[in-house]
Amino acid sequence: MRLELSQAATKVFKFFLISYAIVSVIYTAGYLYTTYSGNHHGIIPRAREQQIPIQESLQHQQLNEHTVVWSNAQGSIQAMPENFVMTKIFSDAMGPMNLTPYFFRAKAQFDKEDITMSTLVTRNRFPVLSRLATNHKGPISAAVHINDDEDKDEVIKELRDLYAGNPDMQQFVDLHLIIDTYDRQFNLWRNIAKLFARTDYIMMLDVDFHICTDLRKSIRSNPDIMDRLRDGRTALVVPAFEFEKQADGNDWKTFPANKKDLVQLVDDGKIGMFHNNWFKGHGSTNYTRWYETDDDIYKVTKYDFSYEPYIIYKKDGSPWCDERFIGYGANKAACLYEIYLSGIEYWVLPNDFLIHQTHRYPEDARRKERQYNRKLYTNYREEVCLRYARKFYMSGEWETTKADNLKRECAKVHGFQRNFMTTTE
Ligand SMILES: *[C@@H]1O[C@H](CO)[C@@H](O)[C@H](O)[C@H]1NC(C)=O
Repeated sequence: MRLELSQAATKVFKFFLISYAIVSVIYTAGYLYTTYSGNHHGIIPRAREQQIPIQESLQHQQLNEHTVVWSNAQGSIQAMPENFVMTKIFSDAMGPMNLTPYFFRAKAQFDKEDITMSTLVTRNRFPVLSRLATNHKGPISAAVHINDDEDKDEVIKELRDLYAGNPDMQQFVDLHLIIDTYDRQFNLWRNIAKLFARTDYIMMLDVDFHICTDLRKSIRSNPDIMDRLRDGRTALVVPAFEFEKQADGNDWKTFPANKKDLVQLVDDGKIGMFHNNWFKGHGSTNYTRWYETDDDIYKVTKYDFSYEPYIIYKKDGSPWCDERFIGYGANKAACLYEIYLSGIEYWVLPNDFLIHQTHRYPEDARRKERQYNRKLYTNYREEVCLRYARKFYMSGEWETTKADNLKRECAKVHGFQRNFMTTTE
C-alpha cells in the first residue's frame, strides 16, 4: 500500500517534471526566436513607441560626441557615432562636416500639423533671422553655416548673443549648426533644415523675405487645403514680390499687409513680381491671374524647369534637394523640379504673399558657379526623368496621375523618350 502510494507519487512527480521541462524548452525557444528574429528587421522598421527621442539625447551642446541608437521592438540593438550616420545621410554633399542638430532648441511645443519655416542662414543674415522670429512667431528650423576659420568662435558668440537678446528666438527657432570649410552648399543646408523640422509641413523660405500675411492661419483654417497637404500631392505656392525702388524695401513695417493694398502698389508701379528680370524663376505662378483671382487656389499649369517659387509642402514622402548642387545657380530650381516630377502639384495661394527685403550685401555674380550648375542641371534633368520614370513604371504608377508631371516635363528632355523606351522594354 505504502509502496503503491509512493509509486503513484513518483509518477505524478515525474509527470510534472517532464511537463515543466517541455514548457521550459518551448518558452526558451520562443524567447530565443523572437530575440534573434527581431534582429532581421531591427534596423529599419521599429515599433513606434520605441523610437529614440533624438532631440533629448542631443541637448548637450558638445560637438561630435553623440550616438544614434538603432532599436527594434525588443529594445536597443546597436549604437553608432552620430557623425558616421551623418556621412551616410548627407553622402552626396562635401564632407566631412561638423553638424550639431538643435544647437539651440526652441522652447515652444509645436503642433504636428503646423508649418515650419525651413531656412538657411549665414552670418550676414543673423539679424534678419531674428526679425523673422519676431514677425512670424511660429516654428522655424534654421540651418546655420559657419566657416571653419579663425573667426568661428566670434561668430558663435554672435549667435548666442542673438538668442540672449530676443525671446522670440528662444521661443521659436530650432537652430542646427554646420561648421565646415565648404561654403554655399545650399541644398545640403536645405535638407538639414527640413530633416530637423518638428512639424509635418514646412515652407522652404529664404530668410530675407517678409511674410506679409498670416499664412499659417489662412492655410490651417481651410479644411480643403489642409486635406491637400496631408495627402502629400500638393505643394502650396506663396507668390513673392519685390519693390521697384530698393529703398522702399528697407522697412517691413511699411509693407502692405493684405492683397488689396498690395495690388494697389502693383497698379501704381511700385512693386512687382520677384526677380522680374529672370521671368522663368517665378513666371509660372502667373501673376496676372493672381491679381484677378480672389478666393480659390489655382494650379500651376505652365511649368518651367527654372521655376523656383516658395512652397509649403509635406515633409514626409517628398523628395530631398539634390546635394550635388553647390554654389549659385539652379540649386533651388533643381530641388523644385524633382519635387514636381515626383508627382506633387503646385497650387498657388490666392491671398498670401511675401515681399523681399532689400539688403546691402555685395552679391558678386559668381558666374563660374552659375555656368557650372547650368551644365549640371541639364544632365540632372535627364537623370531625374529616367529615375522617376523607372520608379513609376516598376511601382505600377506609370498610368496614374502621379506620372503626369513627369510625362509632360520629361518629353522636353533631349533623349529621354528614346532612352526610357529602351530601358523599360
Ligand atoms: C495666366 O492666367 C490668365 C487667366 O487669368 C490666362 O489667360 C493666361 O493664359 C495665363 N498665362 C499663362 C502663361 O498661363
